[in-house]
Amino acid sequence: MANLWSGRFEKGMDEIVEKFNASIGFDERLYACDIQGSIAHVTMLSEQGIVSSEEKDKIIDGLKSIKERIDKGELTFTVKSEDIHMAVEGTLISELGDVGKKLHTARSRNDQVAVDTRLYLKEQIKEILENLIYMERVLLEKAESYADKIMIGFTHMQHAQPVTVGFHFMAYFQMFKRDIQRLQDTYERMDYCPLGACALAGTTLPTNRHRTAELLGFKAPTQNAMDSVSDRDYIIEFLSDASISMMHISRFAEEFVWWNSQEFSYIAIDDSFCTGSSIMPQKKNPDMAELLRGKVGRVYGHLMQILTVMKGTPLAYNKDFQEDKEGMFDTIDTWKASLRIFAKMIEKTEFRMDVIEKHLSKGFLNATDLAEHFVKLEIPFREAHEIVGKMVKYCEHHNNDFCDLTESDLKEIDERLSLEKMPDLSIEGCVNARVSFGGTAPDEVRRQIRQEEDWLNAFA
Ligand code: ARG
Repeated sequence: MANLWSGRFEKGMDEIVEKFNASIGFDERLYACDIQGSIAHVTMLSEQGIVSSEEKDKIIDGLKSIKERIDKGELTFTVKSEDIHMAVEGTLISELGDVGKKLHTARSRNDQVAVDTRLYLKEQIKEILENLIYMERVLLEKAESYADKIMIGFTHMQHAQPVTVGFHFMAYFQMFKRDIQRLQDTYERMDYCPLGACALAGTTLPTNRHRTAELLGFKAPTQNAMDSVSDRDYIIEFLSDASISMMHISRFAEEFVWWNSQEFSYIAIDDSFCTGSSIMPQKKNPDMAELLRGKVGRVYGHLMQILTVMKGTPLAYNKDFQEDKEGMFDTIDTWKASLRIFAKMIEKTEFRMDVIEKHLSKGFLNATDLAEHFVKLEIPFREAHEIVGKMVKYCEHHNNDFCDLTESDLKEIDERLSLEKMPDLSIEGCVNARVSFGGTAPDEVRRQIRQEEDWLNAFA
């Protein structure tokens, strides 16, 4: 079959050109959206009297039958078909004859590919949102069950202040919440239909783009035909959203890796999420957490790739844009799979509170609480900081802790100190007292959980 555009050519494409030019190897994935777009388009054409109602019916039946056969794997394409748009239209024409030739009236592949990718991405965004929401449910449940379990909060990977495990989970909850909101924003902004923009400048035929947009479930048609066919911002935005979310996944996965190490042993990742070594019989490696940490690399790569592809492309359509799909598809697959697997892994992970507890006495986790206590005794914070710093130095020197200090030790450090001015410095007391809004006190963490539960339940 000659190419559908071959009228002005003396000869066909060179074989290597045909292969290099073709996108059917990857854009076949868009077939259902391509057919959905064509059905809406021909429906609009018939409503506008551009094709007859009988012609529309024949074309729609033909398209549906093509879809069914692709679904079942009965219809496959080669590079001869060039891309999914040519493959479907070419098949339609070879099966229907002249009627099939009317489908491409008042559209071009430029607006067609744009509508296909938007339709596809909109569906995928909905699925990814479901995965993100599932992740949020898991985090909320975990936060609830660990709302008052105390662990170490780190800065610079050094013991900083005690926090609850539930509080830590809720920190990730906030990150994935922003990922959800960001993705919703992207969806809102891309929910406009480019079909009918034609090659770049619209058409002389009496089309109704508002109707096509409505039939395809878009908010409205895009405003400017030239922008409609040359805009790939929605893919870039999607890849940015994915990059940020994968970065969140990677940070959390990194914590799983070190929490799972022999040195920490805060958690023991479930056997079903680990693998062994081919040489060291004792090994149980946190491969899933490492892979999750690693997968972010390819998604950043896809974002950089599309930004670079788009840079410097003049208006309107350029073939460079064909390079927009593989990275988008891979990002969809990677992000979805990462969310799914990580949520399941988190669900199955329990913290070893007995191990964590042994570390709580190390590193003066209650030093800031002591300084704040002195502030309540009317000592300016900078001075209180200095005094506690000296107490830490003294304790480190004598290899003991705040609670081991005697009256004379205290006087030696600072004459304003005395045993009776020393507060309850138990780790539980410190955590329970951090009741400031957004703080780590169990009651405050529960307040955060209640509030976010309401937000999450609105999705149900
Ligand atoms: N396969 C092409 C793409 O993915 C479809 C649009 C082709 N348009 C054109 N004028 N060559 O971008």
